[in-house]
Amino acid sequence: MADLQRGLAMELVRVTEAAALRASRWLGNGNKDMVDKAASDAMRGMLDLISVKGKVIIGEGEKDKAPMLYIGEKVGDWKEDSPEVDIAVDPVDGTRLVANGLPNAISVLAAGTKDSLMPFPGFYMHKLACGPELKGKLDINASVRENLKVAAAVLQKDVKDLTIVVLDRERHRDLIEEIRAAGARIKLIADGDVAGAISTALGNVDIYMGIGGAPEGVIAAAALKCLDGEIQTRFFLKDKEEEKSIRAMGFDTNKVYYTDDLAKGDEIIFAATGVTSGEFLEGISFGSQKAISHSILMRAKYRTVRYIKTVHNLKYKTIPSRERNQEEKV
Ligand code: FBP
Repeated sequence: MADLQRGLAMELVRVTEAAALRASRWLGNGNKDMVDKAASDAMRGMLDLISVKGKVIIGEGEKDKAPMLYIGEKVGDWKEDSPEVDIAVDPVDGTRLVANGLPNAISVLAAGTKDSLMPFPGFYMHKLACGPELKGKLDINASVRENLKVAAAVLQKDVKDLTIVVLDRERHRDLIEEIRAAGARIKLIADGDVAGAISTALGNVDIYMGIGGAPEGVIAAAALKCLDGEIQTRFFLKDKEEEKSIRAMGFDTNKVYYTDDLAKGDEIIFAATGVTSGEFLEGISFGSQKAISHSILMRAKYRTVRYIKTVHNLKYKTIPSRERNQEEKV
């Protein structure tokens, strides 16, 4: 695989910074669609400036449903010597969190060489994610009790000292009961399971479990690869119809898809910027004529993790709007 230039990583973090800055203006506004629209517009505008032949593999949905960042959309400058790159984005993972002024929302982007990122459709998946110490030790097909027993032994803790992240959803009622019965602690999150999965490698939690979006699983895989952690996923099938559609798309509904299936090879770059503060990133804060953003930038090849604090001077700072085709103040 061709080497993705280091300089590209810096270009990518500017994309998530711009999306987070724009989204953060809608904090607490109550309208999650506006949060998403603002972030997508900024992200799309910034992607125009990047020297890649990029293709959106994970994006805002099908072409007929998403005006920009739709699956298959070409992004970047598409110059002759620009590298071919798969792009996976979630302009804001946790749009509702931003709309309600709640913690844990991030803007995320993963990039990899052509055909490295799995083009999962917008269905749900069972997910199990963990940091480096538990990598290779857990099994998504095993019982919750068994996984917690193994995790406790590997981490040399009691089960009661494990913390498990779970999306707060009705569909997780049994899962939550099982974790409680086994005696572990639970951190329920309102939204944002990309951050939830990543926090097993960067935060004070041990395992992420539950059912969440398949596209978010691919983005989390890119991050966990850079962090030497792991994600295991299996399609969650609502009914026979859904099973048929997923199979028709060429996916195996019985298979466990691991980190390397979702984000292949080591030419993976991951960037995220906090919109609201969470387990591993602070959110955007505004001061007099300035805004401060906190981002994480990682490359799988050398497993380097960079934290970037950026001070944006709002007197001068502009972000390109794709929709209005102009540079705009934040
Ligand atoms: P968006 O903010 O991008 O809409 O996603 C938030 C999210 O919580 C994801 O992190 C998660 O994978 C998915 O929604 C879960 O879906 P649902 O809200 O339908 O349970």
